[in-house]
Amino acid sequence: MSRYQTLEIAAQGPVLHIRLNRPDVRNAFNGVVVEELSAAFAAANTEPTARVVVLSGNGKSFSAGADLTWMQEQAGLPQEQNQRSAERMARMFLAIARCKKPVVARIHGHALGGGTGLTAAVDIALCSEDCLFGLTETKLGIVPAVISPFVMQKIGAGRARTLFLTGERFDGREAMRIGLVHRAVPEAELDATVQKAVDELLSAGPAAVASAKELIVAVDGLSLEDAIPVTSKWIAALRATPEAKEGFAAFLGKRKPGWMT
Ligand code: COA
Repeated sequence: MSRYQTLEIAAQGPVLHIRLNRPDVRNAFNGVVVEELSAAFAAANTEPTARVVVLSGNGKSFSAGADLTWMQEQAGLPQEQNQRSAERMARMFLAIARCKKPVVARIHGHALGGGTGLTAAVDIALCSEDCLFGLTETKLGIVPAVISPFVMQKIGAGRARTLFLTGERFDGREAMRIGLVHRAVPEAELDATVQKAVDELLSAGPAAVASAKELIVAVDGLSLEDAIPVTSKWIAALRATPEAKEGFAAFLGKRKPGWMT
């Protein structure tokens, strides 16, 4: 029996599927989801067979964001508990963004509020063209606070100024145009598009993929001059790893690297 009440987890070879499983409330997340999603991504870090994580939602929509019944309950808690609960929610997004395995999201239906936040937290977000996104929080009298750093990393402060303030909804095509998602495709092509991204990731060296994720965090915000000691050290170390030796030897020997066989 699954140890999770709100998630469905399935391993398919090297791919770990994490599915939000509260379809009756369009996968809105409450405290249990926050706890379980954080735990599932922590477990993915140490799961030796998992090389890629795919996050998706069961039912009509990917996620309707924070569960508003739960949000109402949290508001009624003593200030310190309310604050701690909000921090756990923020750390759930961080657990996804910092997962040691690459994270692909399959987004359909709606991804509103925190659903847009989940979209921003993953490495490769793929959605259906007609899927609806929105930083809808101001419509509810709140702000997209804990998700703001994740969303702004993807779309920038300029676009956030319009989308955070208006709370307007926008479709998958627009989400791709502004850099929130990597690709928006007709819904019938969504599974194949996810599979293609998974295959691309599986054809890359697993340690190199993990290192690439860390590199982006390390280099982000550095000046071109300040980046040089960091990036030169990085490639010097990486090109001497067993994985790089195998990658070079496979290319030069006109064969597939060991991680692909
Ligand atoms: N929190 C709690 N419950 C939610 C929810 C949320 N974020 N989003 C949806 N639900 C519930 C609805 O209240 C409804 O419950 P009911 O069956 O008891 O009436 C059920 O989920 C289905 O929602 P419904 O609106 O009927 O489904 P839909 O498919 O027509 O529309 C959405 C889906 C996502 C467009 C719509 O539910 C919505 O706009 N939700 C709010 C999204 C939002 O603004 N999130 C930001 C949170 S900060």
